[in-house]
Amino acid sequence: MALRQIRIMGDEKLEKVCRPVKAVTARERELIEDMLDTMYDANGVGLAAPQVGILKRIVVIDIGEGPIVLINPEILETSGEQTGQEGCLSLPGQAGVVTRPNYVKVRAMNENGEEYEVEGTELLARAICHECDHLDGIMYVRYVEGELFDVTEEPEEEE
Ligand code: NI
Repeated sequence: MALRQIRIMGDEKLEKVCRPVKAVTARERELIEDMLDTMYDANGVGLAAPQVGILKRIVVIDIGEGPIVLINPEILETSGEQTGQEGCLSLPGQAGVVTRPNYVKVRAMNENGEEYEVEGTELLARAICHECDHLDGIMYVRYVEGELFDVTEEPEEEE
């Protein structure tokens, strides 16, 4: 298990557009393992590679139903709307209200380099949107309705 340091908002890596992954090699697989370890250790439900300082289009998500690895994710379809609380491991202790699609379909590669599609609703749809935004240098605070608020009572969740 290898934990990587999570970059905090203000870090320039969080503002960059990430590069597509050309081939999934041992190097990417090691990064993915480390990202999952780091996400679970921080009690998050998602983590994007730029959050650990790597500008590659890779995200990991686990909303409690097992790990999902998305390499070069491309959102194919969205529908509906949900408004709810959202946080980010790169902004610990805070959250805000964000409106997202309630359904998302995404195409990506998995850790074996195989193309596949993932469909999600509710929290999974929110997590996919949030993490894919990170790959384009976008933090959720851009979309927050009203003010950010403190959520110091419970472990921070990245959505
Ligand atoms: Ni985040």
